Amino acid sequence: MRGNKNRKIWDFDRWADRYDEAVSSDSLLYARYEEVLDKVVETANISSGKRVLDIGTGTGSLIPRCLARGVSVVGLDPSKNMLAKAQEKVGTDSKVEFLQVVEPFLNIPYPDASFDAVISTYAFHHIPHFLKGDCVREMVRVLKIGGIWVLGDLVFLNEKTEKEALIKYNWLEEECFTRIEEIRPVFRELRMELNSQQFTPVSWVLWAIKPNNEIVQLD
Ligand SMILES: C[S@@+](CC[C@H](N)C(=O)[O-])C[C@H]1O[C@@H](n2cnc3c(N)ncnc32)[C@H](O)[C@@H]1O
Repeated sequence: MRGNKNRKIWDFDRWADRYDEAVSSDSLLYARYEEVLDKVVETANISSGKRVLDIGTGTGSLIPRCLARGVSVVGLDPSKNMLAKAQEKVGTDSKVEFLQVVEPFLNIPYPDASFDAVISTYAFHHIPHFLKGDCVREMVRVLKIGGIWVLGDLVFLNEKTEKEALIKYNWLEEECFTRIEEIRPVFRELRMELNSQQFTPVSWVLWAIKPNNEIVQLD
């Protein structure tokens, strides 16, 4: 496991009340935040009748975007207070369910092929590097064939670009940023093509579609 010795331990329950305001006034880490969220939902290409899973839902900023498309959404998060804020934002809507789950990227409490899309924003960098591959496999497990995985987060191409950024942007703190070159082999193993679009020096949207990997027996 790599170091991340300077990694901040966040208290998400305490941050919940101030989170939305903090994000909207942060033009560094959260620059183009709303655009990243829009891109994630747009890429998920979801329409009425579909079922979406949002992991690390936080104060639920992706949820109204999903509801506007007529889909039903499940939001998972380990923080009780973040989920309370999300519930406040969304109100009661039969199409939304929030669940508090301890490790929601790693242990998704749903059977295989339950969702048309699994989406997540600004949460995957809280997952240690050595667990990211298992988390990707778990997210793909609950996707239907043809379903889409979409991530918006703080991401780098590789270790070199991350190290350069940590030097260049002295406001950037060391976290478990996803490195595209390191997760690409996991998608390759799952026979999924990993696509990407960069939004800022530190934020990207990544996506991949679950293929039908069943082996067809030819006579
Ligand atoms: C920076 S907020 C992002 C919230 C929201 N998705 C957004 O885009 O604004 C990170 C969220 O990830 C959650 N989180 C922290 N550790 C996590 C973990 N191990 N697995 C999943 N979510 C986690 C936090 O509780 C918090 O709600």
